[in-house]
Amino acid sequence: MARTTITLAPDDSLAQPSARAAALLGWLVLSLACSSEGSPASGSAAPDVDPMGTNTTPPAGTSPDPSLPGQASAGGSEANPAAQAPLDPGTSAGAVDSDWCRALGVFRENCQSCHGSELRFGAPMPLTSFDELQATSVSDTEQSVAQRVQARIHDAARPMPPGGMPAEDLALLDAWFATGSTPGADVTCAGLAPASAPTETPEFAWPSDCEEFYTLTTSSRSDSAAKYVVAPGTEEHPQFIFDAPWGDDEVQVLAYRPVTDNARVLHHWILYENDTSLFGGGLGGKFLVGWAPGSPGGTGFPDDVGLYMPNGAGSLRLDVHYYNLGNAEPASDQSGVELCITRTPRPQTATVVGLTGDATARVGRSDNATPCTVNLTGTDAVTFLSVSPHMHKLGVHAKLDLTRSGQTSSLHDAPFDFEDQQIYTLDDVAIRDGDVLTTTCSFENDTGRTVRFGQNSDDEMCFNFVTYYPMGAFQCGFSL
Ligand code: HEC
Repeated sequence: MARTTITLAPDDSLAQPSARAAALLGWLVLSLACSSEGSPASGSAAPDVDPMGTNTTPPAGTSPDPSLPGQASAGGSEANPAAQAPLDPGTSAGAVDSDWCRALGVFRENCQSCHGSELRFGAPMPLTSFDELQATSVSDTEQSVAQRVQARIHDAARPMPPGGMPAEDLALLDAWFATGSTPGADVTCAGLAPASAPTETPEFAWPSDCEEFYTLTTSSRSDSAAKYVVAPGTEEHPQFIFDAPWGDDEVQVLAYRPVTDNARVLHHWILYENDTSLFGGGLGGKFLVGWAPGSPGGTGFPDDVGLYMPNGAGSLRLDVHYYNLGNAEPASDQSGVELCITRTPRPQTATVVGLTGDATARVGRSDNATPCTVNLTGTDAVTFLSVSPHMHKLGVHAKLDLTRSGQTSSLHDAPFDFEDQQIYTLDDVAIRDGDVLTTTCSFENDTGRTVRFGQNSDDEMCFNFVTYYPMGAFQCGFSL
C-alpha cells in the first residue's frame, strides 16, 4: 500500500520528497461572512486521545444530544462528580462546603478544558480561581469576568460552555451568584476534589485500505512555507483554497484526522467543497469534514462506506475559526486536516444533502418547522451518519425530527450559534421511503424588520446538512 503524505502548506515533518505538490491557490480573509454550508461526515469513529485532556464531560459544543437515538446524554450530567460531591472526605468539610467552592467544582468540570491555567481553543481567560472571576472581562471593561459568566451561561444564542451544561451545574453557579458571588470560608477551596481524570480513548487507527494520505493546513498569506498569523485581540475566519491533491481523479475519503498546531487559538475548522455555484456565488459549498473542540482525534466511516470528494483545481476550501482574544501577542498556527483516500472505491459512497427549511425570520422569535417526505430511489433505506444545521446570525436553535407511522423522534435538537457551527454525529439512523423529516430553524430577530433567505450573512438561511449513503438514493422536498 502506498502511503504518501502531501502537505500543501509545507510541513517538513510530513512532506515526502516523492510527493506530488499541489498548489495552494490563494487566501481570502473573511470575517463573519456566510461561512458554513453542508455537513461533514462521521461514522464508525475510532476516537483518539481526548482532545480536551481534562474532562470526562463531553466537550461543550460537540456534546451528543440526549434525544438522539443511541447517544449518551449531552453534557454528561452523570459524569459530574465534582459538582455533585465537592467534598473531599479527607479534609475539613467546612472549608469547601460553600457556594463558591461548588461553583469552582462546576468550572473545573465544564469550563477548564478551555478556560484552564493553559488556555485552549480560543478561550480568552482562565476560570480557575476566585481572583480570576473578579478580573475585568476582555470583551467589556465595565464588567467583571463573573458578570460575563452569569450572562453567558444563560445566553440562549451563545451559551457557555458552547453546547450548554447539565441543569444541576447551572443551578450551582446560579446559587453562587445569588450569594453576591462571595468567596466563602476558604477562597482556595483547598480540599475540593480535582477535576475528573480525562477519559482514556483508544488510539485512532487508519483503515487498512487507505491508499494515500494528504495533509491540508493553513499557512501565511504571503508565504505558504510560514504559519498563519492571528493578530492580537482578534477573532478571524480565514479561508484557504486548495487544488484537490488527487487531481481530477475520483476518490473517496475513508478517514480523517485533525492536525492541531496551536490549540491556544484554534477554535474550529470545516473542510468544504468549494462550490460557489450552490448559492449563486459567495461562500457556497457543502461540508465535507470538520473539527471542533471535543471532536474525536480521528474519524472513519462504516467499513463499506467512503465519503465522496470533489476533484480538480480549487475544489477544496478550509474554513478556520481563530480566537486570539485577551492576548496582547500575535499567535501563529498551521493546523488543518489529514485525509486518507482511496482510488479503489468502497461499495457505498456517502455524500451530503441539504434539507431546506423556511428561512424567514420575522421580528421577534420564529420557530419555522418545514416538513418534507422522503423519496428513495433504488433502495429501501438510506443511512444518515451526521447532521449539521446552518443558519445565519439570527439563528438560535436547530432541530431535525423524523416522523414514521405517526411516531416522531428527534434526530437533533440543540442551540445554534453562527460563530460555532457544528457537525453532530448520528448513530447510523436508517431513513425509509415515505418518512417525514422536519427541519426546524428558530430565529430571534431584533433588527426590527423581517429578514429573508439570502446568501449574505445579513440575510438568513435554514438548512440541515445531512451526510448519508448510498449517494444519489435520497431526496426530500427541495433538497440540495
Ligand atoms: C470548548 C471550549 C470552551 C469551554 C468548554 C468553555 N468556553 Fe467559555 N469561551 C470559549 C471561547 C472560544 C470564548 C471566546 C468566544 C466567545 O466569547 O464566545 C469563550 C468566552 C467565554 C466568556 C466571555 C468572556 C468575555 O470577557 O466576554 C465567558 C464569560 C465564558 N467563556 C465562560 C465560560 C464558562 C463559565 C464555561 C463553563 C461553564 C465555559 N466558558 C466553557 C471556549 C470555551
